[in-house]
Amino acid sequence: MITTVKKKKEEAPINFKRIEKKQVPPAPNRVEAALETIDLHVFYGKHQAIDNVSLAFPKNKVTALIGPSGCGKSTYLRALNRMNDEIEGCVVNGKIVYNGVDINSKAVNVFEVRKKIGMVFQRPNPFAKSIFDNVAFGPRRHGIKNKAKLQEIVEKSLRQAALWDEVKDHLGKSALSLSGGQQQRLCIARALTIEPDVLLLDEPASALDPISTSKIEALIHELKTKYSIVIVTHNMQQAARVSDLTAFFYMGSLVEFAETSTIFTKPREKRTEDYVSGNFG
Ligand SMILES: Nc1ncnc2c1ncn2[C@@H]1O[C@H](COP(=O)(O)OP(=O)(O)OP(=O)(O)O)[C@@H](O)[C@H]1O
Ligand SMILES: [Mg+2]
Repeated sequence: MITTVKKKKEEAPINFKRIEKKQVPPAPNRVEAALETIDLHVFYGKHQAIDNVSLAFPKNKVTALIGPSGCGKSTYLRALNRMNDEIEGCVVNGKIVYNGVDINSKAVNVFEVRKKIGMVFQRPNPFAKSIFDNVAFGPRRHGIKNKAKLQEIVEKSLRQAALWDEVKDHLGKSALSLSGGQQQRLCIARALTIEPDVLLLDEPASALDPISTSKIEALIHELKTKYSIVIVTHNMQQAARVSDLTAFFYMGSLVEFAETSTIFTKPREKRTEDYVSGNFG
């Protein structure tokens, strides 16, 4: 039998083209930005989903993205780690600046981008593998084979995701046997194994019961000491509880971006006030 060994696809070199300093607007409150977009536009074919959004996410803060269904929150979030590259016909124009580099440049290696900017989706999506193998998946993909090292990473990530105590005695069990809330924390642990700087969460608690939701919220609070977090949420109380800053989106545009307390108590725009007070429509 003839077998062909598939050659690993060459990764594009990391050709981080540096952005001129003067092009980057300052983050709010003079806090250093972990990530920012400048004049970002996203299209699905002819349909424009995001229109000219410039937004800076401060380091070690939680920023909530809120707005009515279909306003472009997920589209915008996916742009931040080039996840829209996977959607046929989706075009992202504008700059996404990370560490002074425009990561929206085609020359930038997407694999490297996603190592620094991790993502957790709305529905928990564990692999049909054991709990251990789910968490070890990323590190193995990045070439870590040493068993002791993998065990160390798995334990550390599960502890960070506040799941260790619940699963430590049955790491070999299928991840699919966990509850929804546990699966979501497992997905967060999986995202943490590669030690990203920025964590993108798309409605991470929308499919969960109140107890699991409060665990995820406590976890977000804990994680912001190490990570910069961007969270999409439909739940206004949740945005008020977990975030430091809030950005209100409407029909693909950024309407207002400010401290969460300002957005909820004295927003500048009438549309923001109507939305956060539930008088929308
Ligand atoms: N894969 C896709 N192909 C084509 N159009 C899309 C795609 N994903 C989203 N859209 C369109 O882009 C717009 C923004 O969608 P998006 O999912 O970003 O909104 P959202 O604010 O996250 O909504 P929700 O709160 O319901 O999750 C919508 O008009 C949607 O129909
Ligand atoms: Mg969405």
